[in-house]
Amino acid sequence: MAKTRTIYLCQSCGASSHKWLGRCAECNGWNTFAEERVIDDKKRRAVSREGAARPMPVSGISIAGPARVSTGLIEFDRVLGGGMVAGSAVLIGGDPGIGKSTLLLQAMGAFASGGGRVLYVTGEESLRQIRLRAERLGVGSENLLVYPETSVEAILSSIKEFNPGVVVIDSIQTVHTSEFDSSPGSIGQVRESAMQLITSAKTADAPLFLVGHVTKEGAIAGPKVLEHMVDTVLYFEGERGHAFRILRAVKNRYGSVMEIGVFEMKDSGLKEVTNPSEMFLSERPEGASGSAVVSSLEGSRTILVEVQSLVCPTLFGVPRRTVSGVDYNKVMLIAAVLEKKAGLSLANHDIFIKVAGGMRLEEPAVDMGVLASLASNFLDKPVDAKTVVFGEVGLAGEVRGVSHVEQRVREAEKLGFIRCILPKDNIKGLKPSGRMKLAGVTTVKEAIERLF
Ligand code: TYD
Ligand code: MG
Repeated sequence: MAKTRTIYLCQSCGASSHKWLGRCAECNGWNTFAEERVIDDKKRRAVSREGAARPMPVSGISIAGPARVSTGLIEFDRVLGGGMVAGSAVLIGGDPGIGKSTLLLQAMGAFASGGGRVLYVTGEESLRQIRLRAERLGVGSENLLVYPETSVEAILSSIKEFNPGVVVIDSIQTVHTSEFDSSPGSIGQVRESAMQLITSAKTADAPLFLVGHVTKEGAIAGPKVLEHMVDTVLYFEGERGHAFRILRAVKNRYGSVMEIGVFEMKDSGLKEVTNPSEMFLSERPEGASGSAVVSSLEGSRTILVEVQSLVCPTLFGVPRRTVSGVDYNKVMLIAAVLEKKAGLSLANHDIFIKVAGGMRLEEPAVDMGVLASLASNFLDKPVDAKTVVFGEVGLAGEVRGVSHVEQRVREAEKLGFIRCILPKDNIKGLKPSGRMKLAGVTTVKEAIERLF
């Protein structure tokens, strides 16, 4: 009898080896190898030859048919790049309990009540649990088919049978294919199952949503490989204890990865937040030193967020620097610029800085927010509550121009801000309406003079 061939696969990066290794040579992870069965190459080749395609000129490819379909939630559509694309595979990652199932059930409920047929495969929750949740979310369409199944073969035949408009797999770690012996959730299972599901969704021309769990390290559990197989990777994130959730695209073959969708978790499910700035600023302590509002661009939207900091003398040893919501190096750089170019001696101070509400800010214009916040707390002078800032800070102590200036100023105006400190380069041709006063600055020193 032929011996079953097995191979050892790294569960975090997918590297393979013929013998067990304690440490992965590819990703340097310890104790990550697990035994997997190898699918017979002949069998695999036979499968992949089925329905073989032919090369054709790019101009000859038909793109007819409805390109995008709304999920039923505008914020969700925005992150997807304007709606679901037929035959596309979307991976939604996020911490357990963050609301992935809620988001999908709610969106699919809305989609189903619009007449679309949905196959919602659940491997994690019982039918009763889903029903109770659906009731709470006000989802009750007959077109939403809930299917408690974990076998890929059964799911594939149901897709054929019911011909749904959308397929949801909640979650990819719970399904398994009989071609593989290893347990559900292992890299071989996840990859093989995902491959079969994606192929079937493409054939059926239905968008496919795969829910994936995120490990402590932040990677989608086991298979990083999954991220390469799908068209779109979305992360649903938020802080525990905070009600709002951000849906962010990290890969999107059908749209921008800059867009975010903002939701608030309520008793009755997720509520779309169409004006995030208002929400992020709602608990701002006005007149407190260390609090500064920055006008930041997230995709096509401007969002006003508060940056908070505490700067206190170091009592012993090396100064501590704790940063959340912005890049650590960015904060160190700005602290150094403040020290050298504006004469604020931060070197012997602990620095704690965070973006209020759990937002993560990455664009250069946020520099000025960090700067204003640090300087304000160090000098113990509050930034005026009706002042907003933005601009990039350079190492020479200069304040550099940024993009989408009009949009940033307009958003601040809308929220009742009356003064904006911005790079001087950006002022040209800018006509703020109403009471907004613009203060253009060229250096960090000047910015601090204008601020306090
Ligand atoms: P869930 O969608 O089950 O998370 P995931 O699928 O990402 O693991 O979300 C569960 C959390 O959401 C749970 O902690 C309770 C909260 N929640 C609400 O606050 N309101 C609601 O209406 C629902 C359905 C859930
Ligand atoms: Mg879930």
